[in-house]
Amino acid sequence: MIALHSGDASARLRDLLIERTGIKAGGRLLDLCTGTGAVAVRAQTAVEPGGLVVGVDFSAGMIRRAGVKAHQTDVGDVTFVVGDAARLPFANASFDAVSCSHAMYELSPEVRERALQEVSRVLRPGGRFVMMEHCEPSRPLVRFLYRVRLSVLGSSENRDFARDEVPFLRRYFADVKRELSPKGRSKLIVGNKQEGAETAG
Ligand SMILES: C[S@@+](CC[C@H](N)C(=O)[O-])C[C@H]1O[C@@H](n2cnc3c(N)ncnc32)[C@H](O)[C@@H]1O
Repeated sequence: MIALHSGDASARLRDLLIERTGIKAGGRLLDLCTGTGAVAVRAQTAVEPGGLVVGVDFSAGMIRRAGVKAHQTDVGDVTFVVGDAARLPFANASFDAVSCSHAMYELSPEVRERALQEVSRVLRPGGRFVMMEHCEPSRPLVRFLYRVRLSVLGSSENRDFARDEVPFLRRYFADVKRELSPKGRSKLIVGNKQEGAETAG
C-alpha cells in the first residue's frame, strides 16, 4: 500500500523524513512504530559518529525483522525495542527528534492521543516530531483502496486525522507545519516541542 500510494521512491521519502527531523551527528532519534525499521536503519548514518537511533514497535515480529535488516545492511548499531507508543519505555527528554511514518492514522484515537503525549514527554525541549502519511490518492483505484482502509479503521476521528493532522498536533507541539513530498502524494507534518516546556512525567 505504501509503495502504491506514494509514487515517490520510498527510500527517497524516508530520507526526506529523516532530513526534516534535523538530526545530526551525535543526535538521538526515536523512530516510533518502526515496523521493519526502514526509517531507523537509514537514519543511523545521519547520527554517526556518536549518536543513537532507536526503533520502537509493539510487534515483536516486526522488531525481529528490523534487527535482521540492520544486520544485513551493516549500518552500525541501531537499537530496536518492543514497546507501546502509548507507553514509551524511555525517560523524559531522551531524544532530539522523533519520527513516525505510516502509523499514526492507524492508531485508535485514545492510543494516538496518548502516543502524542508520550512523544512530547520523551523529546527534549526544542526537539522535533516529524510524521509522514499518505495524501488522499487521486487515482480512482488507489483512492478506493485508501478509503476502504480508512473505513476499516472505524472511527470518524481517524478519518478527520487522516484528512488534516495539523490541529491534532497543535495540541502538543509548536510551529506545526505541513509539507507535501515532491510528487505531492505524501505529506510530512513537523512540530517542535517548545523550548523551556515542562516535560510531564
Ligand atoms: C504500517 S506499519 C508502518 C511501519 C513503518 N513506520 C514504515 O513506514 O514502514 C505500522 C506499524 O505500527 C506498529 N504499531 C501499531 N500500533 C502500535 C503501538 N500502539 N505501539 C507501537 N507500535 C505500533 C505496527 O506494529 C506496525 O509495525
